[in-house]
Amino acid sequence: MLPTVRPGNPNFGSGPTAKRPGWSLAALEGALLGRSHRAAVPKARLGEVIDRSRTILGIPADYRVGILPGSDTGAFECAMWSLLGARGIDVVTFESFGEGWLTDIEKQLKLTDARAMTAPYGELPDLSAVDPARDTVFCWNGTTSGVRVPDGGWIRDDRAGLTLCDATSAAFAMPLPWPKLDVVTWSWQKVLGGEAQHGMLVLSPRAVERLESHRPAWPMPKLFRLTKGGKLMEGIFKGETINTPSMLAVEDALDGLRWAESIGGLPALTERCERGLGAIAAWVERSEWAGFLAKRAEIRSPTSVCLSIVDPTFAALGATGQQAFVEDMCGLLAEHRVAYDIQSYRDAPAGLRIWCGATVETADVETLLPWLDWAYAQTRSRLA
Ligand SMILES: Cc1ncc(COP(=O)(O)O)c(C=O)c1O
Repeated sequence: MLPTVRPGNPNFGSGPTAKRPGWSLAALEGALLGRSHRAAVPKARLGEVIDRSRTILGIPADYRVGILPGSDTGAFECAMWSLLGARGIDVVTFESFGEGWLTDIEKQLKLTDARAMTAPYGELPDLSAVDPARDTVFCWNGTTSGVRVPDGGWIRDDRAGLTLCDATSAAFAMPLPWPKLDVVTWSWQKVLGGEAQHGMLVLSPRAVERLESHRPAWPMPKLFRLTKGGKLMEGIFKGETINTPSMLAVEDALDGLRWAESIGGLPALTERCERGLGAIAAWVERSEWAGFLAKRAEIRSPTSVCLSIVDPTFAALGATGQQAFVEDMCGLLAEHRVAYDIQSYRDAPAGLRIWCGATVETADVETLLPWLDWAYAQTRSRLA
């Protein structure tokens, strides 16, 4: 039966994600548009993004926090291009973005001493096999598989290598153990629902040491240059961006950060994500057709919640039929303005991915669930 109530906000896609509750264009009215980002007042706004991010996330005072071009990809590639090559690298991959970083390392940087530690979608590789003498590259939360590393216990405090952590869909959604992490990146378009544009780069003192002592074997584009004359360009970490930022996107990022503070900071953000996942978990428990792609609860992501279809009829469709089924199902949900963009990522197994980041209301997730049952039943009944 067609459910009667629609979610208040049908934006359940994994990025750009839903704007914070109550957001409207009015939030951007104070944006410093048409002005130089290097003038004192606009530069202070950029600095404010850095300071508020540091405070909410509990980033240690001796870590640098900077705003980079090119969203998370820009920030993470800048880190890899700037830091890698000094040691062997363990690349932990368990979904598409980690695979992408491995491709960069092997095919673009052409580093030969890279060990891929790979797990299929829904699982994690054996993290105890990571060698602390080598650099480690990994995603904290695999947005396309709905798997996260459970904690930082597998990272040694006395490691000689650096840990490079892509935390795009983890920052502001789960605690990050800063002393275990030397490089952390994220983008504005994820957990706080900001506009896509810029990436954030966090560097530990050891990462800065590496930057100042290691000269990469390849040419460095201006967009990736963090040092000058062998010294860190400290200005980047005070809001002096490498190139021109969008002050409109800056204003929106600040709006998200202020909202995060107003609801209680990281504990409240984390709780909102966990509640969304909890609502889906209770429904999965009763469901005859849906299951989690990540079978183990302790590695299940509370932001990008990935679901498989466990009905044997679906399994019998084969890969192409399964894709078509999910497309039809998601088409129905979009047509009814109930859920947009919840089809699993193009490289992941066919299924659903429901974003439950901090800006998503749990009540909306709960309202969506009967619609999923309805859309599934409709799509299944159309099979010949
Ligand atoms: C884990 C991860 N890394 C990197 C990216 C790329 O982010 P961006 O498009 O903001 O550069 C994403 C985007 O979803 C992601 O989920």
